[in-house]
Amino acid sequence: MEITRLSRRLFSTASVLRNAAETNRKVKTGVLMINMGGPEKLDQVHDYLLGIMTDRDMIQLPVQSKLGPWIAKRRTPEVQKKYSEIGGGSPILKWTNRQGELMCKKLNEVSKETGPHKHYVAFRYVTPFIDDAIEAMKKDGVEHVVAFSQYPQYSCATSGSSFNAIFDYAAKNKGIAESMKWSVIDRWSTNPLLAKVFADRIRTELNQIPEDVRHDTIILFSAHSLPLKAVQRGDPYPSEVGSTVQMVMNELNHCNPFNLVWQSKVGPLPWLGPFTDEALEAYVKKGKKNFILVPIAFVNEHIETLHELDIEYCHDLGKKLGVQNLRRAAAPNDHPLFIDALTDLVQQRLKSTAPGVSPKFLTRCPHCVNARCGQTKKWFAELCGARI
Ligand code: FES
Repeated sequence: MEITRLSRRLFSTASVLRNAAETNRKVKTGVLMINMGGPEKLDQVHDYLLGIMTDRDMIQLPVQSKLGPWIAKRRTPEVQKKYSEIGGGSPILKWTNRQGELMCKKLNEVSKETGPHKHYVAFRYVTPFIDDAIEAMKKDGVEHVVAFSQYPQYSCATSGSSFNAIFDYAAKNKGIAESMKWSVIDRWSTNPLLAKVFADRIRTELNQIPEDVRHDTIILFSAHSLPLKAVQRGDPYPSEVGSTVQMVMNELNHCNPFNLVWQSKVGPLPWLGPFTDEALEAYVKKGKKNFILVPIAFVNEHIETLHELDIEYCHDLGKKLGVQNLRRAAAPNDHPLFIDALTDLVQQRLKSTAPGVSPKFLTRCPHCVNARCGQTKKWFAELCGARI
């Protein structure tokens, strides 16, 4: 009896010491989780909108330094109202932290030689900002940074803007970023595990639809739209979103009719369509009454899913149009296969002997006129040992 108690105590002391040693070990690999972010509280909404409206990578306005702040101020009350209707703030930080923690836990198990791993959230328009994340990595003694875009499909307005912001930080703070080794995961629209996650989310919703109309249910993949000007410049986003849609439909054996539609247009200029609400309306006119909306370019819930898709379309518009079934598939969030996808992408990147950045990332859009894009790509090429 005494021996059992003693051995239990010894075991527990050893595990405390092991945990303490683990905590004190320097972080070897930092996974920089890049996304635009969202305001957690209503009083962050104005500055968040200001960040978006004054970012020329995201949106180009005439006399932007004046018009951008004016639009941000004007739109603040209406956007605050929307956030209050979804619980008072964006859940994107909560989801990103959960995904990061689960991913790093898994990485510590499957890739011991590159551990310990730690995630760092790097948002573009709200805290924790990119600059804070880079400084935190430096402070933790990170040796290898994996800059991991949380947008599976690359757009110069979103992922591109964040990579340009990393370059801006490095240009102002010489030597800090360069003191660590860097690799980049800039796009992963055709990742097979990601396709499985979306397919699973869709199956869950299809199963909720009565059997007699299930086969006739239209799967509408809905992605954030972008201005046609950006499409004409050669932004790769539309084709990459399309590639995810095809992967998901292959995974589902093309069980249902589907289409790709676009949401969240702002301002009077032409944007990529057809728009989600107009597509629903047009299909209803054609006699269709059953739909599943799939947020194909979002990896976690935020205002575009919780407000625009759930409240404005599934609830309000669905009622107005008299649809029979209009359901929304959940974003990947903490789906176990999604955590596997994140883990696998980082593990493969760490294992790879290829330069830390892809040739596609290093090539500008054919009609890009933004000099910062060129500087950023040149800097990343040098940093990651690639040729440009
Ligand atoms: Fe695409 Fe500059 S706008 S690389």
